[in-house]
Amino acid sequence: MALQSRHLLGLEGVNREEIALILDTAESFMEILQRPIPKVPTLRGKTVVNLFFENSTRTRISFELAEKRLTADTVNFSTSTSSVKKGETLKDTIRNIEAMNIDMVVVRHSAAGVPLFLTRCVDAAIINAGDGMHEHPTQALLDMMTIRRKAGDLQGLKVAIVGDIAHSRVAGSNIHGLLTMGAEVMLCGPKTLMPMHAERLGVRVSHRLEDALEWADYLNVLRIQLERQHKGLFPTIREYHREFGITLERLEQAKRDVVILHPGPINRGVELDSDVADSDFSVILDQVTNGVAVRMAVLYLLSGSDPALE
Ligand code: CP
Repeated sequence: MALQSRHLLGLEGVNREEIALILDTAESFMEILQRPIPKVPTLRGKTVVNLFFENSTRTRISFELAEKRLTADTVNFSTSTSSVKKGETLKDTIRNIEAMNIDMVVVRHSAAGVPLFLTRCVDAAIINAGDGMHEHPTQALLDMMTIRRKAGDLQGLKVAIVGDIAHSRVAGSNIHGLLTMGAEVMLCGPKTLMPMHAERLGVRVSHRLEDALEWADYLNVLRIQLERQHKGLFPTIREYHREFGITLERLEQAKRDVVILHPGPINRGVELDSDVADSDFSVILDQVTNGVAVRMAVLYLLSGSDPALE
């Protein structure tokens, strides 16, 4: 079996078998990552460009490590040191990079739709590493891998996504992925941070954290994305923390055990208290570890390489 598209632009439209294929392939790469020399020649001869127009710690390092573990040649691009600063357009930038003979592009951009636009400019395979408020598919895949590793299966699991849903590309991709895999999803947050007509997405919606804590097995807690939102969507950070902040006390009082995920970066003391982030409730660093394997799987499956993982 193979992925239907040459690109990974989002999880909308990616079917259950394809997501399962990516997660199963990532499991094979987890085994390789635990070897004394965690490297295979699977992408030898392939060149990948990491095109980051927006800041990133986890996603950029994770993709770069995944590429190196697969023996791809990698090149990193960042806006601040490029000719974008001299006014070069996105189309000229990508066409010039492709003229140097590249196979794949990993792109992050503050504008939704840039990965799709790039598929129309070049022949290389395009992987979305986060586009505006649209999608962040590899983050959702690594979230699902982390949950699946704990639960065994995503079917029937209850996952609440808590916080700033409206501005979150992580929420967008998680909703598509989790529903496709048979999980139930609740969106929980203030009305002002909820997308319009959220119920039409096939999810539950609540504006009380207590509902999520009573209902969910897994809580994926999101950062308040101040860089993407207008002012005045909630009174103060302190008020937000009082209503929606995940505290140890709240988790200990909850009727059921919940597992805490967070895509990072964490605003400690806002959406998540430090003693929760660093507690046994949290699988945040497992998410980061699993991210390398997931990105190896996506790169491999989109590379058109020989099926042997080696
Ligand atoms: N989760 C995530 O996208 O983190 P970065 O912004 O650090 O890549």
